[in-house]
Amino acid sequence: MRTIWAVAFATCLAIFLVCFTTPAQAQQKRREGLTLSEKVQQLTEMSAKRSILRFNGHKFKDFVRSTPRNYSMIVMFTALASQRQCVICRHAHDEFVIVANSFRYSQHHSNKMFFAMVDFDEGPDVFTSLNMNTAPVFMHFPAKGKPKHSDTMDIQRVGFAAESIAKWITERTDISIRVFRPPNYSGTVAVAMLFAFVAGFLYLKRNNLDFLYNKTLWAFAAIVSIDSFFSPQQPN
Ligand SMILES: *[C@@H]1O[C@H](CO)[C@@H](O)[C@H](O)[C@H]1NC(C)=O
Repeated sequence: MRTIWAVAFATCLAIFLVCFTTPAQAQQKRREGLTLSEKVQQLTEMSAKRSILRFNGHKFKDFVRSTPRNYSMIVMFTALASQRQCVICRHAHDEFVIVANSFRYSQHHSNKMFFAMVDFDEGPDVFTSLNMNTAPVFMHFPAKGKPKHSDTMDIQRVGFAAESIAKWITERTDISIRVFRPPNYSGTVAVAMLFAFVAGFLYLKRNNLDFLYNKTLWAFAAIVSIDSFFSPQQPN
């Protein structure tokens, strides 16, 4: 009789262990998440591929929310999908890219700081958890502790030009970034094309240059050139 009870007990124990211990252990592991060196390694690998990491809710939790961290995260919260109609988001994104690239190629580049972006349509849960209902927002998540009030950039006051973002980052992290703006060649290209066009035209007409004395043509050329010089420039 005793043997039967012993066998029954052992069987129950075995079933219990198989059924409950394994998932519980797995859950424990999942809750702990990545170790610090795993996080730093993955962030370094990802940021070698792109200067701004795109985070959904899951990755935001793993790399920004969870402790321990020994790196600062600069995160832009945005809504770039066209149906969100956030025009300002696109301008802010362009400026953020300039800052991230300036840091990436600078001599101060290190694994002390990473740039990331959360788009509303990829991580709405992040916006909810931070009680955030506007975009764009720039936030600094310090290596230690929670973000303070001044860890949210006040873009109403200082704007979001790359230089302002870089200055704010330096204030928050002590890492200085010299902003390098890629030069804008579109003006030069336009002038070169105009010259090529005029030269080509004169070449084709080389046997009959009487048109140069044509008043209508000069009037037309004057209007076109005035138009192109004084048309409003798109900021970029
Ligand atoms: C953060 O910790 C990881 C793992 O210990 C280490 O590899 C990395 O160099 C540290 N980063 C900084 C900026 O100290």
